[in-house]
Amino acid sequence: MIDLTMNETQLARTVERCRERNIVIPTFEQMRDPSKTPDKIKDELKDIELWDVVPQNLFRITWKNVPTDKGGLFRPLPNYMEIPPELTGVEARIIALVGKWFPTGAHKVGAAFGCLAPPLVTGQFDPTMHKAVWPSTGNYCRGGAYDASILACDSVAILPEEMSQERFDWLKTVASEIIKTPGSESNVKEIYDKVAELKATRDNVFIFNQFAEFGNYLWHYDITGHAMQEVLDKELGNDAYQGVCLTTGSAGTIGSGDFMKQAYPTSKIAAGEAVQCPTLWLNGYGAHRIEGIGDKHVPWIHNVRNTDQIIAIDDNDSMNLIRLFNEDAGRKYLVNDIGASESFVSQLPLLGISSVANLLMAIKFAKYYELTKNDVVLTVFTDSMDMYQSRLKEARETHGTYTEKDSVKDYHRHLMGQKTDAMIELGHYDRKRVHHLKYFTWIEQQGFDLDELNAQWYDYPRYWENIQQTTPKIDKLIGEFNEKVGLI
Ligand SMILES: Cc1ncc(COP(=O)(O)O)c(C=O)c1O
Repeated sequence: MIDLTMNETQLARTVERCRERNIVIPTFEQMRDPSKTPDKIKDELKDIELWDVVPQNLFRITWKNVPTDKGGLFRPLPNYMEIPPELTGVEARIIALVGKWFPTGAHKVGAAFGCLAPPLVTGQFDPTMHKAVWPSTGNYCRGGAYDASILACDSVAILPEEMSQERFDWLKTVASEIIKTPGSESNVKEIYDKVAELKATRDNVFIFNQFAEFGNYLWHYDITGHAMQEVLDKELGNDAYQGVCLTTGSAGTIGSGDFMKQAYPTSKIAAGEAVQCPTLWLNGYGAHRIEGIGDKHVPWIHNVRNTDQIIAIDDNDSMNLIRLFNEDAGRKYLVNDIGASESFVSQLPLLGISSVANLLMAIKFAKYYELTKNDVVLTVFTDSMDMYQSRLKEARETHGTYTEKDSVKDYHRHLMGQKTDAMIELGHYDRKRVHHLKYFTWIEQQGFDLDELNAQWYDYPRYWENIQQTTPKIDKLIGEFNEKVGLI
């Protein structure tokens, strides 16, 4: 649940801080429809770069930024792209929202905002006193540190030591403290242990745990969900929307599926993970290389009862395809031999590693349900290759220069060769098996409330609907907060 209890003493200090720093907080409504951004801020944005750490950029936490690095305002529709059949091997239309054009280059900056906004405007979180702690395996903690530094508030980023160098390099510019925990992508327990240690030893930390904060779920339910719906309004025509395929990390993004299923009740929601760490699929564990997903547990905010399918992706497929999509020889091959258009191939760097996994999920989903050219599958390209140039370099060092032979192999084996293996269509008790895993992490290990865990399953769908209906209340509080600050 999202706690909206007011703390007036701390709120007064927060209001003062925002006034000093010229900070206006956007509402969810403005993030859905950024044309409602105040004119003064729109004018100022014309001189501001997308990643600049300035308050005006809070209004760029939207899918609708003009895709440019500097000065862009907003477009009527979200950034999205359709992947042509030459690259999917299926007839079904696969359409993806594009995350690169958020500040920080990833949509998790929005989820971090969704977690930060309620405690900020209620006064629970006091930027003059608290350090904001962002436990994460990557982009969420980058997004959180970004949002917090706009508030001139100290941030602690906690992430596994084996995440890509680009993440650490950038974090150094915004977080006051970076804590590296042992292991790689899926080692979240180690992050939780560090959080527990900070809580026990410091009295000024405020934890924003994306795996448990419903602000993350709600931001995606509302903002990503509406963005998907608007894309379909434009693209669907007489075609049929069949479902959304999303690899899960904190299971925030997949909250958009709940929104889409309410809008299209026959559609499905597929959750993805790595074959090498098959927690949802096989209750398994392991290390993998799809950065941002698959954290060896079921997040508290995952609406498992509404999840229809689990699709596991081999990380070798994603890692080889980022080479095909980004190395010169690969791109030449796609244009000259496969017949992909040059303009499309030039957009392939918009897909980071987990975006490629999302694309592969959509392909497997289309094959499994035997979808045709009149069917549409949605997904998200969470971040771009900006975060993974070091991974390309490592691959070059390990496997040598990328050649045409590599392209042929990777295209056929890792893209066209996708099958309907490593996936499961969930029945009631399959879903319950996954839901049960929450007990061990959240009740036994993290001390969460058992009644609430049961409510997630048995008070269904009301438990989830209550959260979904929080947006207008948060927006009202944001409006009142901005009035107190008095800048607009
Ligand atoms: C690159 C990347 N892909 C996928 C995800 C998964 O999104 P979610 O945590 O909303 O499930 C994340 C989350 O941070 C991410 O950083």
